[in-house]
Amino acid sequence: MSFPLVSPPHLASTKIVIANWKMHGDLQRNQALMHAYLQALSPLAPEVKVIVCPPYPYLAQLQSLCQGSVVSWGAQNVAKNVIGAYTGEVSPRMLIDFGAQYVIVGHSERSTAYCESDENIAEKFMLAKQHGLTPILCVGETLLEREAGVMERVVGKQLETIIQRFGGCAFANTIISYEPIWAIGTGLAASVDQAVAMHQFIHETVKTADSDAIQTLKILYGGSVNPQNALQLLQHPEIDGALVGRCALDAEAFIEICKSAVPTTV
Ligand code: 13P
Repeated sequence: MSFPLVSPPHLASTKIVIANWKMHGDLQRNQALMHAYLQALSPLAPEVKVIVCPPYPYLAQLQSLCQGSVVSWGAQNVAKNVIGAYTGEVSPRMLIDFGAQYVIVGHSERSTAYCESDENIAEKFMLAKQHGLTPILCVGETLLEREAGVMERVVGKQLETIIQRFGGCAFANTIISYEPIWAIGTGLAASVDQAVAMHQFIHETVKTADSDAIQTLKILYGGSVNPQNALQLLQHPEIDGALVGRCALDAEAFIEICKSAVPTTV
């Protein structure tokens, strides 16, 4: 299968903070949360790019609340097919219909609970890109894998599946989020050193595969990012931003995290 490459909008050289709402929210709460986000986040643009990924049914609400604002929106998953008899699936074209520009693919909460293989994830990644969405690829290892010292092998395989199938150029204008599974929802974030070591590994892997693609690839960190650890993580030059779960449901905490991404002048 070969895909024509459609270049999504270039990702500016800003930090990116993404709210992954997971399966949380309702119309009323989303509205209140977005009201708070929008008021506080407008002054941070363009230095910090904020993207919100609500559950599918709320994409239309996000579209109406965020259109013309500094906040972009995206989905938490996408089908690996464009149209057809795929009950329960949502096509990239449908996401585009609701103004989505981004989509998370390969989140461990999906790959574990719904048995998504690396091959499946690679297909979703490429199909999303082909349709002009910017894929946000989640990669990361389990605690057992980290303790066994094979975390780079695990993340390397996740990346190589895409590289072997579509070439390193597939990573141009996309986002990878390093999300160690042991850090997600546990309150135990990776240390800056652990995150940076893996970011460097991801950088080198993609650079070896395609030295141009690395120029427009953003590498984020996700896993228990909170207002206390955000500054250290987000001010590091190797960390291009954060993918935030729990703290994105609390306006004050999320805004604080976004403020931590504003470049400080020394
Ligand atoms: P937490 O921030 O709740 O650990 O979730 C991280 C995550 O899974 C983001 O996609």
